[in-house]
Amino acid sequence: MYRIGGRLIFDLYGKSHGPCVGAVLEGFPAGMEVDFDLLNEEMSLRKPTGRIGTPRRESDTPEFKEGLTDGVTDGGNIRIEIANKDTDGSKYMKFYDTPRPGHADLPALLKFPNHDLRGSGQFSGRLTAAMVAAGALAKQYLSARGIEIQAYSKSIGDVRDVNVRDPEEIRGSRMFPTRACDAETDKRMRLCIEKAGAEGDSVGGVAECVITGLPISFGGIWFEALDAELAHSMFGIPACKGIEFGDGFALAGMNGSVSNDPYRYENGSIVTTTNHLGGIVGGMCDGSPVVFRVVFKATPSIGKCQDTVNLKTGKNDTVEVTGRHDPCIVPRAVAVVEAMAAITVMDQLLRE
Ligand SMILES: Cc1cc2nc3c(=O)[nH]c(=O)nc-3n(C[C@H](O)[C@H](O)[C@H](O)COP(=O)(O)O)c2cc1C
Repeated sequence: MYRIGGRLIFDLYGKSHGPCVGAVLEGFPAGMEVDFDLLNEEMSLRKPTGRIGTPRRESDTPEFKEGLTDGVTDGGNIRIEIANKDTDGSKYMKFYDTPRPGHADLPALLKFPNHDLRGSGQFSGRLTAAMVAAGALAKQYLSARGIEIQAYSKSIGDVRDVNVRDPEEIRGSRMFPTRACDAETDKRMRLCIEKAGAEGDSVGGVAECVITGLPISFGGIWFEALDAELAHSMFGIPACKGIEFGDGFALAGMNGSVSNDPYRYENGSIVTTTNHLGGIVGGMCDGSPVVFRVVFKATPSIGKCQDTVNLKTGKNDTVEVTGRHDPCIVPRAVAVVEAMAAITVMDQLLRE
């Protein structure tokens, strides 16, 4: 099991070609009636579509093994399992000798002598199905308290959405396969992914997430800072290589007179007039929406010939990846970003 959280503890387990992937939520309060339509909508947003996702097709039906009584959380551990049915490990055998560059094969084989490489084992994006199922419950809990978490594809390859998107527009990304916010950007992102896939290559990109409804002072300090804990959970998502809040790395080139977000009263509430800092100061919310972006590298498994080593012969070698892979991770990862953000925020809420 792989674990994160303080009051709401999230455990992840399973592997790509085992019987299932699963999650346990410990500390989830009793009394929440689960909306299964919303849960299934979240699950479908992580599923691959068309030529922009892996051809592996799973029904991704979460089974609640414990923690729900008549569809209502009962205060016990919530254990969710999702069966692996569409498995085919045949294309992975050669990676025992010639590990894929960019994937976890080499360090995993050295660290775990019995590592099951089929489907990439526990390093597979498949486990994110369990993250989304658990996150869907956290999202429902937060939504009932006025806290909404929405993400979308900010960029894919060289296609970048330059607009500032409000929560309504971001919600609209649910209707587009790439999770772009409008049809034109969706089309350009789709073409970009399809082109890379047709060339035996892959592309990366950025998911942007916006959290609304958090009161001023929500969060923690030092290692429990809201940004610290969000970063922790985002880096648990495979292929995440970075996170920035607000203007992020661009803040390095700004004067304080520009990057500080001024306060003012509006209808009796304190608001900020800009949001360069992503809604978090001192690890706590400052009244602006929390805005962060997560970078996903290009999918490591690609059809092009790459240099690697041969662990059997002890010589240099090459490897080409065949089999079923996402030519881009971002469209599917958007739902995972929302889910892990929800689990993290709910954990902080229970600790407030
Ligand atoms: C939703 C999702 C789907 C993924 N699909 C693939 C895939 O089809 N092929 C692949 O090689 N990696 C895929 N990955 C990425 C690998 O799991 C990841 O790169 C690998 O475990 C190495 O970890 P690292 O990239 O965090 O270093 C996917 C990741 C996510 C989040």
